[in-house]
Amino acid sequence: MFLHTKIITILAEQPDSALLAPAAELLKAGELVAFPTETVYGLGANALSAEAVKKIFVAKGRPTDNPLIVHIAKLEQLTELVTKVPVAAKMAMEAFWPGPLTLIMPKSSKVPEVVTAGLATVAIRMPDHPVALALLALTNIPIAAPSANLSGKPSPTKAEHVIKDLSGRVAAIIAGGDATVGVESTVLDCTVTPPMILRPGAITYEELVSVLGEVAIDKSLLDKSGLDVLYPRSPGMKYTHYAPLAKIYLLNSSDEEILAHLKVRVQEARAEGLRVGLLASDELAFQLERRGVEFQHIERLGSRTELTKIAGHLFHGLRQCDRFQIDLAYAECFPEDGLGFAIMNRLSRAAGKKKLFTAEELTLA
Ligand code: TXA
Ligand code: MG
Repeated sequence: MFLHTKIITILAEQPDSALLAPAAELLKAGELVAFPTETVYGLGANALSAEAVKKIFVAKGRPTDNPLIVHIAKLEQLTELVTKVPVAAKMAMEAFWPGPLTLIMPKSSKVPEVVTAGLATVAIRMPDHPVALALLALTNIPIAAPSANLSGKPSPTKAEHVIKDLSGRVAAIIAGGDATVGVESTVLDCTVTPPMILRPGAITYEELVSVLGEVAIDKSLLDKSGLDVLYPRSPGMKYTHYAPLAKIYLLNSSDEEILAHLKVRVQEARAEGLRVGLLASDELAFQLERRGVEFQHIERLGSRTELTKIAGHLFHGLRQCDRFQIDLAYAECFPEDGLGFAIMNRLSRAAGKKKLFTAEELTLA
């Protein structure tokens, strides 16, 4: 499969409809168009056309049992997509749409099975990005869009990530700057009581509780024992994901332990000929450098005091590991409340089963 991919460069804050019009026409004609959203770039297709949506799975190499999120620009568009808007969904929309929150509702028969992977429910989101909203308004159709990466790769937060993954595989890519949130939307199942978080994101558990009262969390998100034993309700959560080629080790220890032991670990790995990287806060990176720990690549994610920066930088940081041909990268852990829940979810999944590198392992390994 090789297509000529049209690259449309646009200012995120002031999307020019004349520039977006050809992309809207392509979507209406059943073609694939990648576009920026506030969370990550999405790969869009007409959600009401099974033929169009099938192309998404081919372009991404995505397993067909993983359902897609349908994006809308206006609340009126919900009517044809769902059979019912649960009360919790209504309250959540009022509080958080447009924004990084996807709501699961009972699906109408108009939504093709391929969109929902045969489920009786459909995931819907109104993104908070001027380009996404303008494009959706121009097409006037609901747009199914997963993250615009090759399946298994970290989600794209920059146009260059999409171009790298999908050039030649899609009709057009709208390059509209960096995604500001940097992790995918929170997925909230509103068909159960209390509503349940299936994927943590920028709309935090704490924020949802403040609006909805009781909120449950899918237990697979809380289990630290490893991905393969879990049966998450959000099908996409079962795949090893967000993963660079490098092995990721999570530094699940205190700063003191890391500073005391990591240098030796890094020296040993380098002696074996491995290229070693670090993904860490500015604070930890600074201290490790001061101790003379030599990495082949250091990705500074931002200050520990600003988790929004860390989230915004995370997927780029993971992709940088590939760019610098890192074999093994150590990644700092962050507290799991607020946005930290989403950050640690993505990092743990990038690490897969190799996962936690505790103080004990750090000392003995
Ligand atoms: O921020 C985002 O959500 C981005 C942007 C482009 O909007 N999109 C995104 O899509 O992350 P994707 O396909 O990478 O992730 C969709 C997630 C998957 O974990 C999928 O399993 C889940 O939503 N999902 C979709 N429909 C579902 C349903 N009916 N029930 C449960 N989970 C569902
Ligand atoms: Mg994805």
